[in-house]
Amino acid sequence: MARIAPSLLAANFVSLGEDIDVMETAGAKLLHLDVMDGHFVPNLSIGPPVITAIRKHTQLILDVHLMISNPEALIETFVEAGADYLSIHYETVKHLDRLIDQIREGGVQPGVVVNPHTPVSLLEDVLAKCHHVLVMSVNPGFGGQDFIASSLEKVRTLRLLIEERGLDVKIEIDGGMGLKNTEEAVRSGVDIVVAGSAIFCSPSPVETFRRMQQIADQAGKNH
Ligand code: DX5
Ligand code: ZN
Repeated sequence: MARIAPSLLAANFVSLGEDIDVMETAGAKLLHLDVMDGHFVPNLSIGPPVITAIRKHTQLILDVHLMISNPEALIETFVEAGADYLSIHYETVKHLDRLIDQIREGGVQPGVVVNPHTPVSLLEDVLAKCHHVLVMSVNPGFGGQDFIASSLEKVRTLRLLIEERGLDVKIEIDGGMGLKNTEEAVRSGVDIVVAGSAIFCSPSPVETFRRMQQIADQAGKNH
């Protein structure tokens, strides 16, 4: 069953707790948290202290997306902060296989993220070790960007790679997702749809979340 993961990047940072509670009441099972370092991506966002505070506030699955150079140095910090899923960019890592092991040894579900220019075929040899693969459907660094349509072709290719190997690896998509493209994404094989501005900048975040989840449920059934 595909899940919608609200991205708190588009939430109100003055009242994050309230926005989290609202999403939990709406039925969210996981929250997407974007960590940016101003180096790998040209923007800054939240870091470990905010994740620690969120961890104390909610039992929802915390899906942490690291957009940072040299993530090796901070894996332990994010594990301790309370991440449940930890996604690292393929483009930032020299020893990917080792880092995936390190994350799993920390008791956290490891995922690898691919930028729009990175082919999913590069993940063939580590796929079996991944809990999930995150396909970026925008260039990372900012919320509210336009969806890159060719990302769905990558999702389909990845789905085939996973199925050919008989693996149980989740596919996540992030960037420019909303009411219009959720159905096609789920039909293409997506398990987790991240959405920031589509939810939090809509007139009713609860309604938008629920509607997106309904669309995902329906598309999953017909899949
Ligand atoms: C962008 C982040 C996304 C962002 C998505 O680099 O990784 O998670 O919050 O925002 P929307 O849904 O507005 O494109
Ligand atoms: Zn993200």
